[in-house]
Amino acid sequence: MGVAQPAEAGDRASQRPVVGMVGAGQLARMTAQAAISLGIDFRVLADTPDDSAAQICAGTRTGNYRSADDVLAFGAGCDVVTFDHEHVPGDHLSALEDLTAVRPGGPALRFAQDKGAMRDRLSALHSLQELGVRCPHYRRVGSMAEIAEFAGAGGGGSGWPVVLKATSGGYDGKGVWICDNEDAAADVLAHGLGLIAEEYVPFDRELAVLVARSPKGQGAVYPVVQTIQEDGICREVIAPAPGLDPKVATAAQRAGLAIAAELGVTGLLAVELFELGGELIINELAMRPHNCGHWTLDAAMTSQFEQHLRAVLDLPLGAPRMTARTAVMVNVLGGADPDLHSRLVHVMAADPGVKVHLYGKTVRPGRKVGHVTVAGQDVTRLRDRGRRAANYLSHGTEEPAEGGQPATGGRPDGRRG
Ligand SMILES: Nc1ncnc2c1ncn2[C@@H]1O[C@H](COP(=O)(O)OP(=O)(O)OP(=O)(O)O)[C@@H](O)[C@H]1O
Ligand SMILES: [Mg+2]
Repeated sequence: MGVAQPAEAGDRASQRPVVGMVGAGQLARMTAQAAISLGIDFRVLADTPDDSAAQICAGTRTGNYRSADDVLAFGAGCDVVTFDHEHVPGDHLSALEDLTAVRPGGPALRFAQDKGAMRDRLSALHSLQELGVRCPHYRRVGSMAEIAEFAGAGGGGSGWPVVLKATSGGYDGKGVWICDNEDAAADVLAHGLGLIAEEYVPFDRELAVLVARSPKGQGAVYPVVQTIQEDGICREVIAPAPGLDPKVATAAQRAGLAIAAELGVTGLLAVELFELGGELIINELAMRPHNCGHWTLDAAMTSQFEQHLRAVLDLPLGAPRMTARTAVMVNVLGGADPDLHSRLVHVMAADPGVKVHLYGKTVRPGRKVGHVTVAGQDVTRLRDRGRRAANYLSHGTEEPAEGGQPATGGRPDGRRG
């Protein structure tokens, strides 16, 4: 493991806590920014020195999160270990917990790692049943016969389409297949992955609720947001979710807090939800800073990144209140031309109110390379400004390819040219 050498936990003259984050993507990069403000010694375990957070974090170590040796060597230098992804193997987590504080701990993190385990656990939670929040119908499947049975060949099933999901390892919609028929399901089955089959939910929209919980049991919850996915990847987040029935919003927030408490989550928990006819159906869980909370950097009293650090260090949590009436976050996806910075000047000149966050990642088509946030009053206007800025950063004046950014096109100030 490549090692920079700040002092180890426990033998420092200063009492600054050392927080280590396994993974060095954009979530770790933005957590590092919060750690700077709080005077926390923050380290990341990066795959390579070019990773988004590794570029800017003095406490970077390089190593492989799949290697027990690398994970344990990293953890030995930290007072608390946390994560910017959920892919550290369970055995390494247990070993790490013998060494230092791990937040969230392995038993909680399992429910963010394994969609089958998550469904089993949440389906059995009385607190969710009392709130009227449910999971989609699901079952583990390993054969065409089981998938066909789930879809209803025997009657009473969920019908087609059926959603097949890899139980672990998915992200940004990779690992989710909406199958219209048996042929499509057979193609997925041929990958040989552990799968669950899930009822297709014809949702009205997608929502998310982000909560923080500290080891002492303090909880904090952000306003419920609307998330907009395209091709399985988050494109846009609106805070708060426009026009959401206050009773539904409260149920979502209470569900988030209940899940965090009952699963023993420490740190952040994002609960992705479907809204269907006023009903809330749980999609999935993440136990780390999440794309649904990026807007908090620019429009909440406490950013999700600061909140995560407070929670994993068992500090009092910060106020999750919004500082604007509405905020819209739009992801910047890579386009054909990698030179984001040549376009930044136009976005800044066209709309000085847009907050731009770029992650330092190599630009590849469709990859999340940054986001923009706009805050103010009018949702329609904010969405237009946010999309215009993100679209211009991705594509300039080029028309996006099929499946690319929504066609707000043109210059960020709305003029062509
Ligand atoms: N049961 C379902 N019915 C309808 N659409 C679904 C269903 N499950 C997932 N989807 C769609 O696919 C998207 C991705 O699914 P999911 O969040 O489970 O995948 P993921 O790859 O783990 O995502 P993430 O990037 O959030 O980790 C969802 O946001 C939703 O748009
Ligand atoms: Mg998801």
